[in-house]
Amino acid sequence: MEWVRCLADIGVRDLKLPAGAAGMEEGDGAVHDDESRLALAGNLGEVREVLGDCTRCKLHQDRKNVVFGVGNENADLMFIGEGPGADEDEQGEPFVGRAGRKLTEMIKAIGYERKDVYIANIVKCRPPGNRDPQPDEVATCSPFLYAQIQAIAPKVIVTLGSPATKTLLESRTGITRLRGRWHDFQGIPLMPTFHPAYLLRRYTVENRTLVFSDLKAARARIDETE
Ligand code: URA
Repeated sequence: MEWVRCLADIGVRDLKLPAGAAGMEEGDGAVHDDESRLALAGNLGEVREVLGDCTRCKLHQDRKNVVFGVGNENADLMFIGEGPGADEDEQGEPFVGRAGRKLTEMIKAIGYERKDVYIANIVKCRPPGNRDPQPDEVATCSPFLYAQIQAIAPKVIVTLGSPATKTLLESRTGITRLRGRWHDFQGIPLMPTFHPAYLLRRYTVENRTLVFSDLKAARARIDETE
């Protein structure tokens, strides 16, 4: 909603919209209230506040913790994965299990530490049995991810695996064809690469080389801007 952004630009930080306000359908109050509050959120803390103790989709039923995101609020580089697994659900932090340790190695391979980057997922609650997030869950949760991206304003986004890449690029093409090339997410250069869990499953020299080359391209793109 462009007009909400205009209000944010002139300093309006709190806005309560009545159902039936311009652009709203009767009964859409809660969704549009989120939308306007997220558009006004100037930082990650405010986005987290809007998310609250979320019960907006069915994933909340089995989760232990909402896994919001972790890292540097001013990061140049943002990684986006799929959804929390068992370890992440337990600890409330993304990428802390086996795939997370591989991601940490990938981050170090291009000269960063975990604390330098920001890491988030497309859904913030664990899908049961580590299944892929379903379209309704992604649709409900992605506005919070987009608000995180807006708050951080990274120079480069790296999506990890198919679900994250397809969501951000609104594409049905698989990761194998999308990775290794630059794409655009709302004006931010986006590089898809394989998910670290996939890399662990298929730990070949070829896959490791491809992921390293994607990450080096991301690092080089950031360095070009400095
Ligand atoms: N896999 C993901 O996509 N995200 C996590 O946070 C952990 C594993």
